[in-house]
Amino acid sequence: MLVGVQSGNHLTNRWQVASRWLWYTQLRRGGGVVVRIVRNLVGVVVDYLCDLVRYVRYSSTFRVYGSRAHFEARLIRAYHRIEKALSLREPRDGFGKQVAQALARDVERYILRYGIDMTAQVCLNVLTAYIAFHRGRGESIPELESTVQRLKGLAGDRLTLTAGGVMQVTAADIRSAIRGQFAGFVESRHSIRQFAPRPVDPGLIREAVRIAIRTPSACNRQMWRVRAYDGEAKRRVLALHNGSRGFGHEADKILIVTGDLRYFEGSTERNQVYIDGGMFAMTLIYALHSLGLGTCALNLAIGRRTERKLRRIANIPAWETFIVMIAVGHLPEVLRVAQSPRRSVDEVLVNV
Ligand SMILES: Cc1cc2nc3c(=O)[nH]c(=O)nc-3n(C[C@H](O)[C@H](O)[C@H](O)COP(=O)(O)O)c2cc1C
Repeated sequence: MLVGVQSGNHLTNRWQVASRWLWYTQLRRGGGVVVRIVRNLVGVVVDYLCDLVRYVRYSSTFRVYGSRAHFEARLIRAYHRIEKALSLREPRDGFGKQVAQALARDVERYILRYGIDMTAQVCLNVLTAYIAFHRGRGESIPELESTVQRLKGLAGDRLTLTAGGVMQVTAADIRSAIRGQFAGFVESRHSIRQFAPRPVDPGLIREAVRIAIRTPSACNRQMWRVRAYDGEAKRRVLALHNGSRGFGHEADKILIVTGDLRYFEGSTERNQVYIDGGMFAMTLIYALHSLGLGTCALNLAIGRRTERKLRRIANIPAWETFIVMIAVGHLPEVLRVAQSPRRSVDEVLVNV
């Protein structure tokens, strides 16, 4: 401006042109920001709506007996309530009578529809434990007892499982089972982004999943699913993923962890799939680590369009919610890992 004032009209004009140009670029930049905000907002609303529609459509909220999975979820929730009460120090008198009676009715319907599977057997075992608990207190529940007897007769020699109910454990058992140093184990895991060019035996993936199934889940519903992709299928999956560029192709397998929405019910459980799924994914990563494999969690923070494509490519039904992908491979003998420094405990452990 000073220059313009001092150097006459043409300089003033030049200044005007420059300031107008500046104003336009600011406006365009500002406009860009506004467009970005609006676009993101629309994206958030539409993606949430898609999640809402999927939850309403597939969860147990409006489909209690809708499919085998919905029915099974109902049985698991009920037997878990009884198992949980049986594990208390002092279950209250007459606890769970209605739940047990409803469970007996439901399991009968379930057996008639689907036969004797693991869930049906666990239900019968839990009901048996419930009856035995009351017998031990000198109480009998004749109606329930006769139903359970009848169903067990129906099951006959297909009743092979004994799991269900409660069991005694000791602190000494638990302590002796905690071999090795967990802290050292946790600290030796890193996200691996370089892999040895060796195939991972599918048996190792199976073993890791077997271990990870011990992960706690809400009402023990265990609604996790894991799929492993290699070769061309892996390539197609990774083509939709940005965060694995430059290293994903080195991993022999890509796992996709999902959670089955049919096992959840009502508005309060709308996010449960992510919690149970996330906890499972972490155990799976540690299980793979315990087997000497390298892993890297790969985010599945994707919008509805990528989600649709991934479902098609990976053959994943609409009632399963994506949790995370995991790149898995053998470790090279020497490799570099990101240090990924951690916060101090004082920042995380909040004083109240
Ligand atoms: C849900 C989740 C998603 C992740 N996504 C990616 C990813 O897409 N690409 C990647 O290279 N790392 C990914 N990571 C790895 C993180 O960058 C890594 O865990 C973090 O930096 C801590 O490092 P560490 O795992 O080596 O301890 C992801 C981790 C999590 C838990």
